[in-house]
Amino acid sequence: MLAAKAREVMACCRLLAGFSEESGRTTRTFLSAPMRDVHAHLGSWMERCGLSVHVDNAGNLRGVYPASASDGPRLFIGSHLDTVIDAGAFDGVLGVVMAVALVDLLERRSLPFLIEVVGFSEEEGVRFGVPFIGSRALAGTLDVDLLNRVDTRGRSVEDAIRDYGLDPSCVVNARAGNHALGYLEFHIEQGPVLDDIAAPLGVVRAIVGQSRLTATFAGSANHAGTTPMHARRDAVAGAAEWITAVEALARSTPGLVATVGRILARPGSTNVIAGVCDTSLDVRHASDEARRIAVATLHHTAQQIASRRQLRVEFETHLDQPAVVMSPTLVSTLERALTTQGVPIHRIDSGAGHDAMIMAACMPAAMLFLRSPGGISHHPDETVLEDDVAAALGTGLAFLDDLARSLSHA
Ligand code: HGY
Ligand code: MN
Ligand code: MN
Repeated sequence: MLAAKAREVMACCRLLAGFSEESGRTTRTFLSAPMRDVHAHLGSWMERCGLSVHVDNAGNLRGVYPASASDGPRLFIGSHLDTVIDAGAFDGVLGVVMAVALVDLLERRSLPFLIEVVGFSEEEGVRFGVPFIGSRALAGTLDVDLLNRVDTRGRSVEDAIRDYGLDPSCVVNARAGNHALGYLEFHIEQGPVLDDIAAPLGVVRAIVGQSRLTATFAGSANHAGTTPMHARRDAVAGAAEWITAVEALARSTPGLVATVGRILARPGSTNVIAGVCDTSLDVRHASDEARRIAVATLHHTAQQIASRRQLRVEFETHLDQPAVVMSPTLVSTLERALTTQGVPIHRIDSGAGHDAMIMAACMPAAMLFLRSPGGISHHPDETVLEDDVAAALGTGLAFLDDLARSLSHA
């Protein structure tokens, strides 16, 4: 039964990967058109399993599975349905599809708690540069100023919500109620740890904190052919020097990762010295203090490089997300569930950010990682193993039964 359901889960993830803004690769950002196809496909499966389904005004796909008592407490199980550019088929989506599959495996058996399956609308931050719009709306921590942020086409978050047929003035209604038992998220590890030790599943202890910024270097555009090298104020050359300093700091600081993933040279002609260069910066560390010291150091280094090159540099902070520890109670429940399945327990910290770190602000949260073969993610070659999906489904069912027992003894 679990093996068949695991095959169904993987086939569904691969089918949903075809719902993309771009042909030939998977890119699905906040409330883009293909998200409708995802909501329709998953929503009909959810309804067949007995979930009452709706899309909330933050664009989250929500489905509630009734309990033996109508006003019982509620367990949320979910992940995100948006993707990065040229994504794999499993980051985020796997957690939502597995949640639906778990309810399907209950075969209408009711538990002493409701289950709410959630497919978050925006975790990656691709379209508007800020992640976690969906889970922040559910956690009640969404800064309404965020609704005014605009994408590269000048459309705001509010426009995107309205374009989808939802009401941005009611985003606050997306908030989870007060009877939350907790939040469980299945997710691929996205790194090499479990694969390197041949472990199928991992229990997340904590999720590292992350900072996301833009550093804009400004010099003066000029003719590439006639401007002598000593007379240039080249924004790209300044940014390039700083980017090597970003890498050097991360290589020399234990536990620190720092990434410049996007560079935009302006005006962008090949025969024009760039007057402006926008660079993204992503900094992560298990310790918030170490992360913030690294950001301050890189800020200072950028200023030094800029002043030496007669450039200006400005920083904009898009995210300063503290590290989050998972609920010890739910972690213990997960570990008992793994033991019933005969799966060895491996505890792991997450270098990737997840909706669970946002949900942890309003309810106990826990995550179960599935091995990422080759440690590949945010890439079309991202995958999971069918046996690991089956083991995770079995663990999920054991988790639900353990929770039901603890509630009935309460
Ligand atoms: O970037 C991250 O950490 C996650 O994959 N969104
Ligand atoms: Mn991701
Ligand atoms: Mn993810």
